[in-house]
Amino acid sequence: MTQLFDTYQLGELVLENRVVMAPMTRARCVDTVANSDTAEYYRQRAGAGLIVTEGTPISPEGQGYAYVPGIWSGEQVSGWRTVTDAVHSEDGRIFAQLWHVGRLSHISIQPGRQRPVSAGAAPAHECKTFAFSDAETDGFVDVSDPRPLSTEEVGRVTRDFAGAATNARTAGFDGVELHGANGYLFEQFLNPSTNTRADHYGGSIRNRTRFLLEAVDAVIEAIGSIRVGIRLSPFSELFDMPSYAEAADTYLYLASELSRRDVAYVHLIDQRPAGTCILDVGFLSAFRACYRGTIILAGGMTQELAEKLVGNNLIDLAAFGQPFIANPDLVERMQNGWPVTTPDPSSYYGGGAEGYIDYPRFARTTA
Ligand SMILES: Cc1cc2nc3c(=O)[nH]c(=O)nc-3n(C[C@H](O)[C@H](O)[C@H](O)COP(=O)(O)O)c2cc1C
Repeated sequence: MTQLFDTYQLGELVLENRVVMAPMTRARCVDTVANSDTAEYYRQRAGAGLIVTEGTPISPEGQGYAYVPGIWSGEQVSGWRTVTDAVHSEDGRIFAQLWHVGRLSHISIQPGRQRPVSAGAAPAHECKTFAFSDAETDGFVDVSDPRPLSTEEVGRVTRDFAGAATNARTAGFDGVELHGANGYLFEQFLNPSTNTRADHYGGSIRNRTRFLLEAVDAVIEAIGSIRVGIRLSPFSELFDMPSYAEAADTYLYLASELSRRDVAYVHLIDQRPAGTCILDVGFLSAFRACYRGTIILAGGMTQELAEKLVGNNLIDLAAFGQPFIANPDLVERMQNGWPVTTPDPSSYYGGGAEGYIDYPRFARTTA
């Protein structure tokens, strides 16, 4: 039976184990450039079979939160190079998560204080982001009302994704993950309540998935399919995304289209409220039947569940988010049955080294 700590062949890469560090925004970068703390944070966590970075905006327009590192400029590429060098020096593997937030942004962090863009004009009700209420004051603010992208502009965003993927390879990343989850731009196109378009990007399942698949194709063209993963959150209602009747069909159609394109992996998130599971065995099995490649699953993952799902071949890799915040050596702790530290949510976003690079390894504190 396959074990969680067995190696895994992901395209040309050999992963040391089947534990993935899930992408987590930490909002600790000044001027949108990854810095030495970013490099140290990821270096400490290189024991994961694969690290997926925090969401990384592909363009100024793609930004939704202050203090997040981007990947559209030369300076940002140089910043990320220090991160990938640090992770590779520990024999780790790292993919960049490419992000466009769409409507979940605020004019204070948009170029020229323009309105954020989306598939349609529907605002995200009761959603906040961390931006600026005036030139000097940062804090949580309501997201701004969006405007729909024109048909031509959708092509431009697709090219921005391809450019960011090329930048990621220049920065030394082993690959990229397109952020197609959690209510951001791609989901705003997938969901018919936010996608009210009359052009060939709106309406049928084929049309609503067109933008995402065109972006996948453009990124594959830029860096090759074995280096392109994608994150999806079927049935998630995060950030004011209502459920819809065709959700299962939409994601199973995507599964077969992504299978045809032979992408490196699909990273699913189970957005479960505590104690429940929305991606049940039935849906996971149906998804696996349509998508023949590598499946990663995240969301409330425990070692016990990960061992069961990997052992049963329902998924290939198991992703852990919050446990990696407080346990840089999470894989070693799980392998050895060492206790796992609980992270402090008050230091998840923003600030400096505290709650970021000062969580100790277990062995070092007890040896
Ligand atoms: C602080 C924090 C930041 C996050 N940022 C991102 C992000 O940038 N991109 C993303 O796809 N998911 C993000 N997530 C979701 C995680 O990747 C993960 O799916 C979620 O935390 C559930 O896994 P867990 O229960 O193991 O923490 C974030 C979660 C947390 C706690």
